[in-house]
Formats: sequence, C-alpha cells, structure tokens
Amino acid sequence: MGEVLPRGPQSYFRPVIDSFPWWRNAVVYQVYVRSFADGNADGVGDIAGLISRLPYIASLGVDAIWINPWYVSPLLDGGYDVADYRDIHPMYGSLEEAKRLIDEAGAASIRVLVDLVPNHTSWDHAWFKAALDADPGSLERSRYHFLPGKGKHGQLPPNNWKSVFGGPAWTRVPDGEWYLHMFDVSQPDLNWDNPDVREEFIDILRFWLDLGVSGFRVDVAHALVKEADYPDATEDDTDSVLSTPTGEGHPLWDRPELHDVVREWRAVLDDYQEKMMVAEAWIPKWERLAKYVRPDEYHQAFDFHLLKASWNPEAVRATIEGSVAAATSVGSIPTWVLSNHDVIRHVTRYGLAPHVEERAWLLSGDEDRLDLDLGLRRARAATLLLLGLPGSVYLYQGEELGLHEVHDLPEGVIDDPVWERSGHAEKGRDGCRVPIPWKREGPSFGFGDNGSWLPQPEIWSELSVESQDGVEGSTLELYRAAIRIRAERLRDDESLEWIDVGPGALAFRRGSGVTCLINYGDQLVPRPEGVLLLASGPLQGDSVPANTAMWMADA
Ligand code: GLC
Repeated sequence: MGEVLPRGPQSYFRPVIDSFPWWRNAVVYQVYVRSFADGNADGVGDIAGLISRLPYIASLGVDAIWINPWYVSPLLDGGYDVADYRDIHPMYGSLEEAKRLIDEAGAASIRVLVDLVPNHTSWDHAWFKAALDADPGSLERSRYHFLPGKGKHGQLPPNNWKSVFGGPAWTRVPDGEWYLHMFDVSQPDLNWDNPDVREEFIDILRFWLDLGVSGFRVDVAHALVKEADYPDATEDDTDSVLSTPTGEGHPLWDRPELHDVVREWRAVLDDYQEKMMVAEAWIPKWERLAKYVRPDEYHQAFDFHLLKASWNPEAVRATIEGSVAAATSVGSIPTWVLSNHDVIRHVTRYGLAPHVEERAWLLSGDEDRLDLDLGLRRARAATLLLLGLPGSVYLYQGEELGLHEVHDLPEGVIDDPVWERSGHAEKGRDGCRVPIPWKREGPSFGFGDNGSWLPQPEIWSELSVESQDGVEGSTLELYRAAIRIRAERLRDDESLEWIDVGPGALAFRRGSGVTCLINYGDQLVPRPEGVLLLASGPLQGDSVPANTAMWMADA
C-alpha cells in the first residue's frame, strides 16, 4: 500500500494502491428480496424470483448485489428480526436455493453480499426463548441486556433510553426484569461483552463465507456495544434510525469498544480471498466514521451525507470533499448512496418543495408540495454525479426505473413497526419497499403471477422494466449506459479534480479524462470541451440546462 497523498487545493486524491480490489470502485445493487420478484405467486418476492431475474441484474452491469435479510424471522421488522441466522425464511425459499443463487450469480460475474444483523436477534431466536425461560442472573440472560427496574418495585425502566422506533427501549418480563431493545420490542439487543455472542457471530460469518458469499452489509454497526453501567442518555434524540446521536461518550451509539469486535470479524474475512464488509453506520461526524474503515476494520462504511445534502452545489461539493477526505485519511474509499429500504426514495425527496420536513410530509402526503417531474430530472442528474465519482456506489432496486416513494399506501397495509410504535406519528418505510413493476400490464405488473404484498400505483405501468427496456432516453437505459461507461473508463481511476464552472453548477475531471458537470441552478451552463459521453436529459445546443448532468471525454 502506498501513502495517502495530501489534499491539494484542486486535486483531492489519487490512487493509493496499484491494483484495486473488486469492492473499491464497485457498483452494488441492493435487492429487497421481499419486493423484487415473486417466483411462486404468493404475492411476496423470493429467491426463485430473484434467480429468474439475474439476467436483468447482469444487464445493468453491476458488480454485486446486497440482499436484505432473508433469514428465518417473524418479520416484525421486515426480517431485521432474525430467528435463525443460518437458514432461509420458507417464504423466500431454502438454503439450497440460496446456494444456487450465489452460484448462478457468480457465474454471471455478480457477487453476493448478505445482511448481517448483529445488534439484536428476534424474540423468536432460540437464545432469547431460553433467556425468558431462565432465571435472572443466568448465563442465558447474560447474552442479552436484562436488568432490574428502578423504583420501589422495579416498576420503572432501568434508564431513560428510547427505542429508535418510538417508546422506551426497555420491556418488562413477567419475573420483573427488563430487557433492552433499541428497535422493536421483538428485537432484543445482544450483549457483545458475552463470549458466546462473539463466537456465535464468527461462526455465522464463516457459515456464509463458506457458502460462497463475497461479504456482508452490517446492520446498525454503530450500535453494537453499550456502556457497561447503563447510564441515562443526555443527548436523547434517538427518534429515528437516521438521526442517531454519536460522539465521544454516548452510552449507546458509536462506542469505542465496538471496534474490537470489528477487528475480530476482519481477521475472519482476511482468512478468505476478496471478501468485504460494509458498515451501516449513521455517523454525522466524518472523523468518527473514518474510524470504521481503518485498515483492520470495515472495508467500507455507508456515507449518508450526500443522501442528506440539499440540492445545491456548495452543499454537495462540501459533502464530496468531506467524504473523500475521511475515507482516504485511512486508506479507504468513499461510498455513495441516495436511496435504500429505510429512506424516502430520492425521486420524491428531490421533488419536494424546499424546507418540507420529509417525514411529516409523508404523513400528510400533500401533493401540492411535490413535483415528481422535477424530482426525476434531479434524480437522473444525481445518478451521473454518483456514478462519476471515485468510490463505490450503492443503488437501491427500482431507482434505475425512476420509481418514487408510494406515499399514499392505505393504513391497513402498513407493515413497518415504526407506525405502531410511534403512535401513528410516523408512517414508516413501506413506501420505498413497494414491489418492482416488471411488465406494463398484468397482476402486480409482472412482479409475480398474482398480487403484491404492497399495492403498486397504476402509473408504475409506464415505469416498468418492459416500458423502459431498450427505449432511448429512459431512466433504465441511462443507468445501463452510465454503469457501462464507468466500467470502461473509470474502474481503476481514483482521482478527482474540481473545475470552476461558475455559480450554480459543479464540475470535476477524472484522471482518465472524463469530466462530469451537474447544473443545480436555473441558468444554462456552457458545456465543457470534449466529446459528449452521456447526459441525464436533453441539452440545449452547447449548454447544459437546469437539473441536468453530463459526462464528457477529452477530445
Ligand atoms: C437498520 C436497517 C433497518 C432496520 C434497523 C434495525 O437500520 O436498515 O431496516 O429496521 O436497522 O435492524
């Protein structure tokens, strides 16, 4: 490994190693298996459906897929409540089918990452059932966080911690003890000071690695360890998974002790060839996020700053600079993400009027404040920005079709535990989890031969894969072209140099001779010299219109 080059005024970073491992500048496609493709007509996506759609994923040109939890689970938090980490939920298929998927994906040069959920199990997990059957102080209870309550009769929770999904983070069991659950009541937090827990997860890692996966996306990686004596939290705004407070000394988020666990896992991955793990860590401070991607820890961490950045060039540039500086300060490389199964789809986000609070809007669904055409134009431009940057890009299924958030799901179908736990103050995350429309017509637009577990809007007929496949200028073809050009020209290029194009726009040039320009303002911006490779929307002669991005190659 070479040295990390210092930041110059214009040139932000250059290759630090000679040959890049596959994950370093990868495009990873996130598959929310429940909503991807339904192979057995029960209205729910499954592995058979996913296997049948591998040719589609290959046609996108992505390097890998990340599959959301597919394990045995009561599905009280979409499968992030795991009852058996080594088996597949029968609704999705079987372990044999999972193996077939990994092999067939591999044959199509698509690597598979699975979701590791180490912070908590389901309450259906054998360990938690044993803990409930056991006495206070038992070994079984010590794998979780069981504590006596406060108050004369122990009737008050042990401290003031709140669940990310709403309500207290503690629930009382019949013998009077309380257990910790940072998320749903059905998701008891594991105690990472317990050696059984540590050993078990090393074994789980090996189980999946031996089955052929290329690595892991690690769920709420910043929550793993809690402060030993469970003090009250002072900074207590854990009201959303997106706004977990972090920083020195917080009793439950981003504890320094968790890095020891990560190092243990990294040593396991390093026993194999070309494996990687990416942390889901909602960490606002870059210097703290960088700690997760030190050379003996995670290979990457999701960086959600760009997802949260507003639509203006200064904010975006500052975000890119911060992300790049943080990752490269420890020899890693940034990641870029605009959507996933937890956030409002970015077509909708970009289409909302300025200053609209997103989660409140979701509840009201006020359509006067939403311009979906504008949202899609911006989303397409942002795609060229993302895919034009060095680092890995994580795409969420359906964004390549330009899907928007389904904000008007009827209350009766809402599945996200956030809805109930927040006392209906938050609608939750189902609107970005609506099944994919594959065909223009038919039941569930080709998602399966039957209905779909969440209703799809009629307009998704026009956004279906069938409607866009091979259609010049469609969002699907834009993604395919961008990923192809990126693979051809940018795969082994980790450099970036800003170009001054005046106010309202951002532009940078990559060492391999590709320039990316994105116009955030409302004025036309002259297009740079060179040969046009791709544009996110129609250009006006030699100018780039508002909310449009383009790539040029040196002439
Ligand atoms: C992560 C997942 C989210 C889940 C939560 C609890 O943030 O992405 O979907 O609800 O962790 O496991």
